[in-house]
Amino acid sequence: MSKEMKQILVTGAVGQIGSELTMALRKRYGGENVVATGHRTRPNAALQDSGPFEFIDVSKRKTIEEVVRKYNIDTIYHLAAILSAVGEEKPLLAWDVNMNGLYNVLEVAREHEMVRLFCPSSIAVFGPETPRDNTPQETILCPSTMYGVTKVAGELLCDYYFERFGLDVRGLRYPGIISAETLPGGGTTDYAVDMYVKAVAGEDYTCFVTQETTLPFLYMPDALNALLELATADESKLIHRTFNVTGFSASAAEFAESVSRRIPGFSCGFEPDFRQIIAESWPRSIDDNDARREWGWKPSFDLEAMSDDMIARLKDKSVTIDTETA
Ligand SMILES: NC(=O)c1ccc[n+]([C@@H]2O[C@H](COP(=O)([O-])OP(=O)(O)OC[C@H]3O[C@@H](n4cnc5c(N)ncnc54)[C@H](O)[C@@H]3O)[C@@H](O)[C@H]2O)c1
Repeated sequence: MSKEMKQILVTGAVGQIGSELTMALRKRYGGENVVATGHRTRPNAALQDSGPFEFIDVSKRKTIEEVVRKYNIDTIYHLAAILSAVGEEKPLLAWDVNMNGLYNVLEVAREHEMVRLFCPSSIAVFGPETPRDNTPQETILCPSTMYGVTKVAGELLCDYYFERFGLDVRGLRYPGIISAETLPGGGTTDYAVDMYVKAVAGEDYTCFVTQETTLPFLYMPDALNALLELATADESKLIHRTFNVTGFSASAAEFAESVSRRIPGFSCGFEPDFRQIIAESWPRSIDDNDARREWGWKPSFDLEAMSDDMIARLKDKSVTIDTETA
């Protein structure tokens, strides 16, 4: 374990990323040293049996404070959030969880002089005026969704805590995350997971964006590596605090074709809904050269490698559904 990080807390640990991140952290740092926390949903057996689990509502600072004191926490991976699609349906909830929740976590981290805090951002920080191809690290950040507004404000708030209080906050602007363990919790890129789940179950799928819709994605093993590598990156080499990262870009049609090549007979229809407008406000591809330069970021999975692994994993198990925000 790193010299500095001794007791880790994960918020949103039953979510799509949190559930797999917690297991990866426990493997690396030991089960007892990584406290998983959820809001209302109970953890799956793997999470429950491999280390401590507590309930936290990030919008209530006292609940964070209690767990931090109980376990003498010095590092937080803050994954609790309301995602883009749910955020458009419940904008006030998105503001409360994403902004007040983040503020509470930052304040607890500052008061307890924590070693480090990780807070994922999103490609949702970009908006309709942002260049959509090879979107640079430094560019126009004028999102059109409440989720995006909270992510931009969240990045600024994290920067403020770093500059003003010296809190070592680090983050990644994740693109759509594809994974086989826990279903996504209400984002605009969920179709890229749902399509595989349906196909493996022997069902057809109706996609909620058009077939031409192209977005950047990252497969979960790469998403976890990015966080784990950034966690131990040499601080003196970091010019930025929150980084663009990407794995590959693909259109919805390319996903469907990739699935069909592996599961013959699978058929995908396209019936765009309100999430189409969100998708059209986001980049088609991302320039992540600053992450590559500053801490050696390099993804391993492209669309085809991801499809092979994803389908194999899904055939192997039944996915967990986090019903809290779904
Ligand atoms: N999954 C993606 O495609 C993606 C893409 C870009 C960025 N991100 C970011 O990564 C982080 C994790 O996302 P995820 O995909 O795992 O999301 P998720 O929706 O799967 O999980 C988020 C978790 O937060 C919990 N939560 C909601 N309200 C809470 C509250 N008041 N107190 C405590 N917990 C609460 C939910 O129960 C859920 O388990 C978020 O910051 C998200 O914005 C995710």
